[in-house]
Amino acid sequence: VTRSKILGCGSYLPAKCLSNADLAAMVDTSDEWIVQRTGIRQRHVAAEGEFTSDLATEAARAALADAGVEAQSIDLIVLATATPDNTFPASAVSVQAKLGITTGFAFDVQAVCSGFVYALTTADAYLKAGLAKRALVIGAETFSRILDWNDRTTCVLFGDGAGAVVLEACEGEGAVSDQGILTSHLRSDGRHKDKLFVDGGPSSTQTTGFLRMEGKEVFKHAVGMITDVIEDAFAATGLSAEDLDWFIPHQANKRIIDASAKKLGIAPEKVVTTVDLHGNTSAASIPLALCHAVRDGRVKRGDLVLLEAMGGGFTWGSVLLRW
Ligand code: ACO
Repeated sequence: VTRSKILGCGSYLPAKCLSNADLAAMVDTSDEWIVQRTGIRQRHVAAEGEFTSDLATEAARAALADAGVEAQSIDLIVLATATPDNTFPASAVSVQAKLGITTGFAFDVQAVCSGFVYALTTADAYLKAGLAKRALVIGAETFSRILDWNDRTTCVLFGDGAGAVVLEACEGEGAVSDQGILTSHLRSDGRHKDKLFVDGGPSSTQTTGFLRMEGKEVFKHAVGMITDVIEDAFAATGLSAEDLDWFIPHQANKRIIDASAKKLGIAPEKVVTTVDLHGNTSAASIPLALCHAVRDGRVKRGDLVLLEAMGGGFTWGSVLLRW
């Protein structure tokens, strides 16, 4: 059986960091409100002239070094982003060029906050189908560029950053004890598109636009959608919440993360949380959190890890893997 396994991971955060107090000086908000409602304490913001592809390239370099492989051995790059450098070409080809790769192929995946789960599932499917052998899967965002910095209901929630993994095709028995991606489950429902969207775009307004969100509506749907795709992952593998070593959810809001873990019966000490440090970095949040927990020694080889995300669209999905 062909499957894919993660050889290494890497991440990158822009140097500039805004605290809640910094935001309170810009809009009518407070550290107390932000922490209580979201768990966020700070977020990183890209410097002028620092693009999504720059963040992605830094994360990719770190992942390649961690995996101990050369950039030239990569024959597929899948970059999840809702904030590409340009409308086209895909920011993935900029990353490809910055890494000096002139073979294979690269493209972007757009599923907003579910982007990394979609990209990982896409790359896994390409590797399993024999279309490529070794992939870089990246989530990178500069949401600071699409925030309305006068809107306190959204500007306090998001941050910039990037995370990446190197994924390689390998042979295995197909057992749940094997290293690699065990199962993926993706969903979307476009009826919800007006609850979280950007009010611009090349075809509609010929502007970039700003992020708009009905926060309460998103919150209302999040936990149910998240638990559905996680129950699908358990049903497909015969595994359960008790078998998990780590739950690494999309980092949008601590209350959504805690409520999801509780509903699924996942013990709080198995939940990796970085929303306090990074804010919501959309497609970058899962690989940033994963890398954080690998680097601090929590996630070890052989551990069972559950990734999950939900975002604009709505899109949502889960990936269950053995690290
Ligand atoms: N600072 C201070 N007060 C604020 C702020 C702020 N930054 N933002 C809103 N308020 C005020 C509102 O104006 C409102 O005041 P009012 O009662 O006088 O009208 C009050 O706080 C309560 O606002 P609500 O919107 O009802 O607050 P709520 O408890 O719903 O929290 C939040 C808002 C944090 C956005 C919440 O709805 C939420 O977390 N939703 C999910 C959003 C999310 O996570 N989205 C991302 C997931 S998908 C993705 O990642 C793309």
